[in-house]
Amino acid sequence: MMNLKQMVGIKASEYVKDGMIVGLGTGSTAYYMIEELGRRVKEENLQIVGVPTSIASKKQAEGLGITVKTIDEVDHVDLTIDGADEIDENFGGIKGGGAALLFEKIVATYSKKIICIVDESKMVKNLGAFPLPVEVIPYGCMQVFKKFEALGYQPTLRKKEDGSTLITDCGHYIIDLHLEKIEQPEQLARQLDHTVGVVEHGLFLNMVDTVIIGHENGVEVLESQK
Ligand code: 5RP
Repeated sequence: MMNLKQMVGIKASEYVKDGMIVGLGTGSTAYYMIEELGRRVKEENLQIVGVPTSIASKKQAEGLGITVKTIDEVDHVDLTIDGADEIDENFGGIKGGGAALLFEKIVATYSKKIICIVDESKMVKNLGAFPLPVEVIPYGCMQVFKKFEALGYQPTLRKKEDGSTLITDCGHYIIDLHLEKIEQPEQLARQLDHTVGVVEHGLFLNMVDTVIIGHENGVEVLESQK
């Protein structure tokens, strides 16, 4: 039986048409979307170029025979399909649970359309129960960490299972902020954007066009009014 992540991954792939340049998200939900695109490339001779947002998605896409290019090798991206950790009522999102938020945000920023694929557990009233990932340059990161502590953001430096510090695909660290509830996402995003040492954060605000939600009884598609 299909799980919810697989359902939304397959549904999202229907938005991909011949000739498109497609941003390929990262994570266990995006995985199914990439698998489905790979199937269509093989079985339906779908002609696309994928722009992966992580080393893992690049390897997966290449393994499936999808042509891949970097964001700098294409002149636009038609559509990006990616997962999310939380999506609120305004289509704001938290991303980066899978540590790929920097490439994900760059590819999303230069995409004409963004589709988020989530199971229903990711839909929230307020963002923040999921720890907000903040990607930082290793140099000086403990100063940034202390600043977050002083602000009451309850930071933790992300570790791997073996206890070593997680290093992103771009050689950075991730500090997760345990905020419980983000009252003013725009304000927090501006503050993080202006914090020296922060490369990017996982707040994706005013970016998402379509959310595809997996429910036990089927798939729901929501379009942004933006
Ligand atoms: C990776 C991400 C993922 O899209 C997000 O963490 C959701 O992952 P999953 O589909 O595995 O639940 O932002 O950086």
